[in-house]
Amino acid sequence: MTPGLDRESRRYLAHSYPHNHDYRVVGSRLVPSWKLWRREGRLRALYPRSPRSLVDLASCKGWFVLQAARAGCPRAVGLDVHRPDLDASRAAAAHLRIDADFREQRLDELAAEVEAGAAPFEVALLVNAYQYFYFGSDRDERAVLDHRLLFQRMRTVCDGRLIFSNRVDLERLPDNVRERAARQGSGGDYDARTIRAAAEEFFEVEERAPLGRIPLWVLHAR
Ligand SMILES: C[S@@+](CC[C@H](N)C(=O)[O-])C[C@H]1O[C@@H](n2cnc3c(N)ncnc32)[C@H](O)[C@@H]1O
Repeated sequence: MTPGLDRESRRYLAHSYPHNHDYRVVGSRLVPSWKLWRREGRLRALYPRSPRSLVDLASCKGWFVLQAARAGCPRAVGLDVHRPDLDASRAAAAHLRIDADFREQRLDELAAEVEAGAAPFEVALLVNAYQYFYFGSDRDERAVLDHRLLFQRMRTVCDGRLIFSNRVDLERLPDNVRERAARQGSGGDYDARTIRAAAEEFFEVEERAPLGRIPLWVLHAR
């Protein structure tokens, strides 16, 4: 018998920020919200269904990691800084008996592990979270403020392809992120040209049609 999934985890997975990552667990099925289903169709077409390894660098409620593990990926890992997301992801994995690893960890910590000998990942995802890595946020105040360093770390952890989707112009970021940038005096380098140049140092950049209005790049490790 599979372990039960408590009501609170079910509610959290189905109705919490961000709503384009909401899904329901129905019996042994994972049922995406319409918004997640629409995004997933675009994103999952960009990498193998069951890669040898996959890491989602901001895994949120765990959907992309769970799907990869379910499809047979033997090393499916999700990183996040938000404990409720991690708890709910782990609860869903346990309920469905999916072998996926959800870690409270940051990109720099994973990069240090790889530098110390852990294997890099064939596929990495970074979707709608780059601005938080760059500027920090209420969930994790630590700002990096260095595009080159972020893409270098992503290249360290990924030796195959990185699926990157994010707003890359300061004026298109949410108000709270722009306000943080203004307080830091740090927004000057947050623009598409600068971010792309940093990415190109470590990856070959393949630009795809935007995801909604958000840029979508497939980055091939150099
Ligand atoms: C807008 S959600 C996007 C989630 C997921 N990648 C998706 O596309 O559905 C941003 C995610 O980044 C995570 N995250 C990682 N580092 C963060 C940071 N420094 N500040 C805020 N959120 C961070 C959040 O916890 C959250 O799960």
